[in-house]
Amino acid sequence: MNRITTAAADCRDSRQGPLVTVACKAALAGGALLTSLYKQPHTITMKGKTDLVTEADLAAQDTITTVLAKDTPGIALLAEESAKGHTDNMDGQLWIVDPLDGTTNFAHGFPYFCVSIALLAQGKPQVCAIYSPCMDELFYACAGKGAWLNGDPIKVTTTDHLIEALIGTGFPYDVPQHLQELIAQLKTVLPQVRDIRRAGAAALDLAYVACGRLDGFYERALQPWDTAAGWLLVEEAGGKVSNYGNKPYSVLSKEIVATNGSLHLKLLPLLR
Ligand code: IPD
Ligand code: CA
Ligand code: CA
Repeated sequence: MNRITTAAADCRDSRQGPLVTVACKAALAGGALLTSLYKQPHTITMKGKTDLVTEADLAAQDTITTVLAKDTPGIALLAEESAKGHTDNMDGQLWIVDPLDGTTNFAHGFPYFCVSIALLAQGKPQVCAIYSPCMDELFYACAGKGAWLNGDPIKVTTTDHLIEALIGTGFPYDVPQHLQELIAQLKTVLPQVRDIRRAGAAALDLAYVACGRLDGFYERALQPWDTAAGWLLVEEAGGKVSNYGNKPYSVLSKEIVATNGSLHLKLLPLLR
């Protein structure tokens, strides 16, 4: 069995199996494209003062959406580089794609970035795949069935004390608009935890919570393509995902907190 058919077998579901297969196939194809361009010079254009887009974002999106459209022609697509202000319409089934999460890392040769793909139905993730090319790590999950990394089931940590926790976070591109809050949260959270990581790819950060490399993660102002897949991975690995007010998470939420569950109510008050 190759790693794509393994995903379908792990899922043990006749409806989700074929869909997780497609998600994994598209994520691996996008990842192979990113690998082929990683060590080459990049063509960079600016979407904002610090928000880059490279030739690789566009080429990976093209590769991924071609696979998804061919294998699941009836399912709508929302992909970052062609989303003109994302839709609030989450009715029906929708593939959500971040073709390159961690573009700044990619452009600087910092090997922490991924492809992120999720299938939503009525706003809830059903299957997902996140692929980290530099580590050759394929994460996938199926709603109600579990989460895996390269074929092995994954679980969040059992860390119960913040002072033993490694917490991930991220900074939005419009830093000046959020600076006060970012600094205030760092001032509160940093002394209470073992350490903080700002690794630079939110989808992969969430996958790292799911597989126990991080105990929690929080960030404001993310987009549906940053969080849809990681949200499912964390929940299927036994963790908890909410907004800063502990309300149920939606990909349209303004902020996300994802933890191993035990730490959730301990981390939340530090973010408000
Ligand atoms: C970004 C990364 C980063 C996060 C930003 C995102 P991109 O996505 O996930 O870690 O802090 O808010 O926009 O632009 O590399 O796809
Ligand atoms: Ca992203
Ligand atoms: Ca991106």
